[in-house]
Amino acid sequence: MPDLSTITCIEDLRRVAQRRVPRMFYDYCDSGSWTEGTYRANQDDFQRIKLRQRVAVNMEGRSTASTMVGQEVAMPVALAPTGLTGMQHADGEILAARAARAFGVPFTLSTMSICSIEDVAQHAGPGFWFQLYVMRDRRFIERLIDRAKAAGCSALVVTLDLQILGQRHKDIKNGLSTPPKPTLANLINLATKPRWIMGMLGTPRRKFGNIHGHVEGVTDMSNLGAWTADQFDPRLNWGDVEWIKKRWGGKLIIKGIMVPEDARLAVESGADALIVSNHGGRQLDGAPSAIEALPAIVDAVGREIEVHMDSGIRSGQDVLKARALGARGTYIGRAFLYGLGAYGEQGVARALQIIHRELDLTMAFCGRTNIEQVDASILLPGTYPTP
Ligand SMILES: Cc1cc2nc3c(=O)[nH]c(=O)nc-3n(C[C@H](O)[C@H](O)[C@H](O)COP(=O)(O)O)c2cc1C
Repeated sequence: MPDLSTITCIEDLRRVAQRRVPRMFYDYCDSGSWTEGTYRANQDDFQRIKLRQRVAVNMEGRSTASTMVGQEVAMPVALAPTGLTGMQHADGEILAARAARAFGVPFTLSTMSICSIEDVAQHAGPGFWFQLYVMRDRRFIERLIDRAKAAGCSALVVTLDLQILGQRHKDIKNGLSTPPKPTLANLINLATKPRWIMGMLGTPRRKFGNIHGHVEGVTDMSNLGAWTADQFDPRLNWGDVEWIKKRWGGKLIIKGIMVPEDARLAVESGADALIVSNHGGRQLDGAPSAIEALPAIVDAVGREIEVHMDSGIRSGQDVLKARALGARGTYIGRAFLYGLGAYGEQGVARALQIIHRELDLTMAFCGRTNIEQVDASILLPGTYPTP
């Protein structure tokens, strides 16, 4: 395996993760729904946007520091909530939360995490963000919100684009269902990942930590699976968001907005921020890329609410382009998961270093020394989406 010092871009991390993580979990991370058209568009559309180079501008004393929902960040990048992160690497959520804290960016813990809220707070410190999926069992949701508060989470991210599940062919073929039914080929593949197996044998964290032991009647992996599969609530609506906001009482971020009408409803819900996101191309295949959807939403509500974005970010250039198009903050999903699967905590730290360096240097090439000065004037007209 390559030494960490030879890793210079997110693609390097992806290749190492592909070798180290069992196929069924690598595929779970690195895939989109149906034709994966939206998944590909998320990255391709970033590539089409061109930057305007400036020269002989004083580039000394640069800063990428900013804020997201009023919290200071070393750069406008948070770690996105991702389910089953503790399956990319043993204790994955704790390791990623530690790396994010050390770097000075937010970590968002998924409802579907392996390490529980309390466990992450105890081993990586409080202050991380918590992502909520709205389940049919509202008493469970109430308790989750209360647990996130008690653990010292500093923002709640409510995901609205997963009332029903998008279909990923690879997950079905790999038997990644709840409960998992790995194929023989997967089991053989698993046997080629001794490092991963050793990690898993060395940790007690192998279940959905936020759910296991917190729902009556759910005692083992098979009824936990059945409960989870039935729980995503197709009736979710904006009334639920109001109720969540009241119960939570802190910073609220709405995730999964792709059109101005829904952005308007997010503003009316009283949220502090919304995330333009197509769930990394994992839900509605055929939707445009998130960077394509961003400008119309910024134009519609950008003066009333913080607009963030995710889906497709693989470099600091992508972060800069999103910021130039009005995203106050961005989130990385796979970019940090590759780092985690490849090298654990150090790999996540590496992913953040890589993105930060690319962001800082690209900003300088565009003639800006402070991220707060970045706007669409750094982009080449005709190459970027407009409202
Ligand atoms: C493996 C994986 C699991 C995910 N699980 C969740 C989740 O539990 N909750 C959620 O709101 N979003 C989830 N997402 C979506 C991410 O939060 C984010 O929107 C997406 O990863 C951004 O795209 P990117 O991976 O191209 O950066 C998941 C994404 C991936 C790749």
